[in-house]
Amino acid sequence: MIASSCGFARLLSQRVLLGHLAVSAALGVIALAPGHAHAAGNAGADVFATECAECHSLKQGKNKKGPSLFAVAGRKAGSIEDFKYSSAMTSSGIVWTADQIDSYVTQPKKAVPGGIMKYDGLPDAKARADLIEYLASVK
Ligand code: HEC
Repeated sequence: MIASSCGFARLLSQRVLLGHLAVSAALGVIALAPGHAHAAGNAGADVFATECAECHSLKQGKNKKGPSLFAVAGRKAGSIEDFKYSSAMTSSGIVWTADQIDSYVTQPKKAVPGGIMKYDGLPDAKARADLIEYLASVK
């Protein structure tokens, strides 16, 4: 019995540690997410953080390696004034509807041949749907 209660105590302390990590991870996401991230957007916020945040900010006017994606939904491709796009992007004629973002994020080089987004694409359809829902909420 002693051995198993020890095991239980160890399990408990692991739980506490994991709980703590989960809480700090959640706080990290909330800190990154502008405006109000409601529950449905959280999965998308995670996808954004791991796949896109290296190059894109969601702050208005803040460009990184890629243009700010603040209020990207409904925007004309290549329309951030002070970002240096490829001519492929500025002349693509794309408007960033959910469908267009979906095909671009699936295969950037196929959707905009000659574009300069160095991203191989996100094959997971569920992750893309969560991401797009989240992006649409940032406006
Ligand atoms: C390695 C850096 C990098 C990563 C990672 C990246 N992007 Fe980009 N993104 C860029 C660059 C650079 C451009 C400009 C492309 C061009 O001009 O051809 C761009 C352009 C875009 C545009 C067009 C914006 C506009 O103003 O027309 C969208 C939408 C976009 N990215 C979405 C995403 C999403 C969503 C992700 C994550 C799944 C992502 N990007 C990941 C660098 C990146």
